Amino acid sequence: MKAVRIHSKGGHEGLVHEDAPTPTPATGDVLVEVRAASFVPDELDWGSTWTDRAGRDRTPSVPAHEVAGVVSEVPVGTSGFAVNDRVFGLTDWHRDGAAAEFVAVEARSLARMPESLDFTQAAALPLIGLTAWQGLFDHGGLTAGQTVVVHGAGGGTGSIVVQLAAHAGARVIATGRGKAADLARQLGADTFVDLEKERIEDAVGQVDLVFDTIGGDLLARSAGIVRPGGVLVSIYEPPPVVPEGGRAAFFVVEPNREQLVQLAELADTAGLRPHVGAVYPLADTAEAFAAKQRGIPGKVVLQA
Ligand SMILES: NC(=O)c1ccc[n+]([C@@H]2O[C@H](COP(=O)([O-])OP(=O)(O)OC[C@H]3O[C@@H](n4cnc5c(N)ncnc54)[C@H](OP(=O)(O)O)[C@@H]3O)[C@@H](O)[C@H]2O)c1
Repeated sequence: MKAVRIHSKGGHEGLVHEDAPTPTPATGDVLVEVRAASFVPDELDWGSTWTDRAGRDRTPSVPAHEVAGVVSEVPVGTSGFAVNDRVFGLTDWHRDGAAAEFVAVEARSLARMPESLDFTQAAALPLIGLTAWQGLFDHGGLTAGQTVVVHGAGGGTGSIVVQLAAHAGARVIATGRGKAADLARQLGADTFVDLEKERIEDAVGQVDLVFDTIGGDLLARSAGIVRPGGVLVSIYEPPPVVPEGGRAAFFVVEPNREQLVQLAELADTAGLRPHVGAVYPLADTAEAFAAKQRGIPGKVVLQA
């Protein structure tokens, strides 16, 4: 098969489109024929790109751990899927990713694709969808009627956080640069705070939950707008200040089939959509990484 691989530690310049062995799915895996994949721009800096879970060198390594495709093989001992099922999901960071014609994925990391999304949209959803879900509900404990501030609402993750929070019946205060205001409102935000013009602590009162995707000084100051009993959740870095009488949380997203099923249902029934900023052919993966690092908004998707 053709795959994009990196042979030694370094940046995206080392990504090469080349012949590689088609992976053999282990018990519990399925083999997926990749139609689209997506990636995190800094995943080449992570230890999991270079070693397996036992710390052994696993180069050459295939990046891009979000996949949408068609099941092409189901080994004996794997259950839940059949050949030709259309699936999407977030794959194990410590194994080869989906920048390839085929990827072997643990079946428990996949779900059936939403009917209403194409492969490109479905590949853009797993990481940001699961991150938004886990931050709002698992770590933030969001319930209907609460008020949530979403920092970076125009970004890949923030745009899903706004949609999920609004759908859950929360009052949503979106923040970011002024250019993100229209998108945030279209996605369901009640209010937008332009961080280039206003300080968050001057613009809003006490809220139940802050979901931060930006970090730094904004994250530190946001502890002050969380009411007692509320939560400050960041996906960027651990919050340096804990809200008075409240909680602070930082987490790293995990694969989760049940949550993917719920995200797929929301895509089909409530119009949940990821923001796809650009699409590149698999052979141009290095350029796709470079383009995302130059600041393309939303997710950049690779098409196999
Ligand atoms: N912990 C986890 O599991 C997890 C999961 C997913 C992502 N992440 C991390 O979370 C961060 C966000 O990811 P993402 O994919 O959502 O990124 P993204 O698509 O680049 O979104 C970030 C958003 O925040 C805005 N922003 C950044 N700095 C700002 C500032 N100083 N003032 C106002 N707006 C600002 C950006 O606007 P501009 O584009 O105009 O700058 C953009 O709209 C990344 O660092 C990523 O690695 C962590």
